[in-house]
Amino acid sequence: MHYKITPSRVGDGTVTVPGDKSISHRALMLGGIAEGRSDVSGFLAGEDCLCTMAAMRSMGVAIDQPEATEVSIQGAGLYGLRAAATEIDLGNSGTAMRLMTGLLSGQSFDSVLIGDESLSGRPMGRIIKPLTQMGARIGSSDGTPPLRISGGGKLRGIDYEMPVASAQVKSSILLAGLYAQGATSVSEPAVTRDHTERMLRAMGASVQTDGHRISVDGGQHLDACQVQVPADLSSAAFVILAALLSDGADVLISDVGVNPTRTGVIDILLGMGADIVIENPRMSGQEPVADLRVRASKLRGGKVDPALVSLAIDEFPVLFVAAAAASGETVFSGIGELRVKESDRISAMAEGMRTLGIRVDESADGAVVHGGRFCGGIVESFGDHRVAMSLAIAGTVASDTVVVRDVAAVDTSFPGFVNCLAAIGAEISSEEAGS
Ligand code: S3P
Repeated sequence: MHYKITPSRVGDGTVTVPGDKSISHRALMLGGIAEGRSDVSGFLAGEDCLCTMAAMRSMGVAIDQPEATEVSIQGAGLYGLRAAATEIDLGNSGTAMRLMTGLLSGQSFDSVLIGDESLSGRPMGRIIKPLTQMGARIGSSDGTPPLRISGGGKLRGIDYEMPVASAQVKSSILLAGLYAQGATSVSEPAVTRDHTERMLRAMGASVQTDGHRISVDGGQHLDACQVQVPADLSSAAFVILAALLSDGADVLISDVGVNPTRTGVIDILLGMGADIVIENPRMSGQEPVADLRVRASKLRGGKVDPALVSLAIDEFPVLFVAAAAASGETVFSGIGELRVKESDRISAMAEGMRTLGIRVDESADGAVVHGGRFCGGIVESFGDHRVAMSLAIAGTVASDTVVVRDVAAVDTSFPGFVNCLAAIGAEISSEEAGS
């Protein structure tokens, strides 16, 4: 499957984007070990979260999905999961694998977690190390999946300083901490998304946050709760860019999650001169949401503050597109983590944008993007959803047709991407490879 994008004008309109991926995963996992029924609205029925759903079902959790975005989870309780009959396949999802490993480290049964080719190459040492310190027994293929988690041991709380800022690692440790003896604390080198902490609290657990250190006591039971999943800011980011780059555009994106641990992309774009207004801010359950009004803007380059990296970690591919469309140079630093996402996103984006006529100088943990004009061309997504969508947005302002190859992975996080962009005027079609 590939996308064909012809240069097009994005106009006016109100759009919604699918639910938040991080929150949808957590609703399934925490709802699965809570007591009682958790009703989830706004659920992201993307492939990643559907893997988590299948995983929880395979361990005995009853989950109904009367509509794509409505899910009801009958919690099995903290100690109510049972062994899956087979290996648990988590597809493309790093979040599912890392959080699930924490959850399964505390069970009485053995589990095996596998994933697709991309996930099978991603580093798991970052969770294996702290979980092993807690007493978990996890086998891996040299620090990568498959992961073989032996159950039946006893976990003990630890006080862990994370070497990398990662919400996945933090959440994995906190989930294991629910099963550990004593308190488990994790300190992060920079603030990362706090959806796990918020949902645990909403389910009645006590979670202490003291600066960058988060602690949880073992043995606390969780009460089911209602989860209203906001629209995913990481998906909204593509629509934001399409609107910013199109002359005369004025687009409203409704009900978007604006948790301050996620809004780095807005801050970075505002710093580049973007016209983005956060309207009607409010709480939706445990998460802040707002409508985002985005108007066409002339962007300018500059140095992107590395302090914002962990707050915008998934948005750098599309920020590279913003940088290419901006005047002058944009300097990204401290983004080495992008090299171990679904693809090496620094080199994948550099390669795609170079093919489209943009100069990008790469370094180990950064890049300098020189503003210019995208030309047409055929580019590769490297099987990475966010690279595919970012290059598609570049296509809307290119001088000629852009084809983005291998875009099937977009369904992991943004089902309906093509229709959403088409609704605001982008000329994009999805075609079978070879057509
Ligand atoms: C996520 C955390 C981030 C992000 C991923 C989702 C989460 O990963 O890239 O898409 O839901 O916790 P890291 O925390 O490992 O950077």
